[in-house]
Amino acid sequence: MTSTAPGPGSVALITGGTGGFGRALARTLKERGVTVVLSDLDSDRNRQVAADLGCEFAVLDVTDRAANEALVARIEADHGRLDAAYLNAGISAAKSDDALDLDEFMRVVDIDLFGVVYGVAAARPAIKRAGGGAIVVTASLAGLSPMATDPGYSVAKGGAIAFVRSMAPRLAAEGTTISAICPGFADTAIIDRIRDQFTAAGFPVLSAQEVADAMVMAWEAGEPGAAYVIQPGVGTVPYTFKGVPAARTATGETAVVPEALRPPSMR
Ligand SMILES: NC(=O)c1ccc[n+]([C@@H]2O[C@H](COP(=O)([O-])OP(=O)(O)OC[C@H]3O[C@@H](n4cnc5c(N)ncnc54)[C@H](O)[C@@H]3O)[C@@H](O)[C@H]2O)c1
Repeated sequence: MTSTAPGPGSVALITGGTGGFGRALARTLKERGVTVVLSDLDSDRNRQVAADLGCEFAVLDVTDRAANEALVARIEADHGRLDAAYLNAGISAAKSDDALDLDEFMRVVDIDLFGVVYGVAAARPAIKRAGGGAIVVTASLAGLSPMATDPGYSVAKGGAIAFVRSMAPRLAAEGTTISAICPGFADTAIIDRIRDQFTAAGFPVLSAQEVADAMVMAWEAGEPGAAYVIQPGVGTVPYTFKGVPAARTATGETAVVPEALRPPSMR
């Protein structure tokens, strides 16, 4: 069986799955008949969240490269396939002062960027074996519009979007679409520290469900390299990247990159 759409028979992995977006996404996918494996850091609370949702729980720290691969292998062994990987685990800086805490910066990049890279590397061959499918990366609006309060988060999310776009052609060539979602502020635990300020200022935040709906749409749309902005009062819109000036030849024509310098999927 091949499956490129969320539905009965398809199997999805969600990292950071017991958080706000992960729970809403798991519920939504389950309503569509998808088998959902919720992965997250190990805790009684996280195990209970998965049990309450009727989902299998898998311990995964996304910064552990080998563990990403072991989990995907286990999912394939247990369920016979993997159709979609939602690489959603993430943290932000715990404070927003003007210091640059390098330990914290590296920790955020390790989880929010390298966790995504390891997840893609692990899921790619399994999704290909399933006949193609989807990888959806939870980036952030901060990846498109960097936050002065959180340089590490901005770098990690911007890097994740660049990674998605640069991986898209080679994955599309094997039937897998990779895309990014870029939500603005949303009502989950990650904004606990600053929620009161949004409330006091009357600043609107997204619901986790609005983001989950966009995550399902990203799988269904199957648009390689897409980045979807989600904002309160705006909805979900594909972001249009501004191009850069192409090189010109001595005669003023647009220079074409030599074929040998393009990846096989783009020749
Ligand atoms: N809520 C927002 O305002 C917002 C906006 C844009 C993007 N995001 C992104 O959405 C994603 C989901 O966050 P959320 O809003 O649901 O917040 P959340 O804090 O509820 O969920 C994040 C989850 O990631 C898990 N996690 C943290 N470190 C991990 C690790 N090393 N390995 C595996 N799991 C780990 C946490 O345990 C938690 O369950 C994150 O990538 C976040 O950066 C959130």
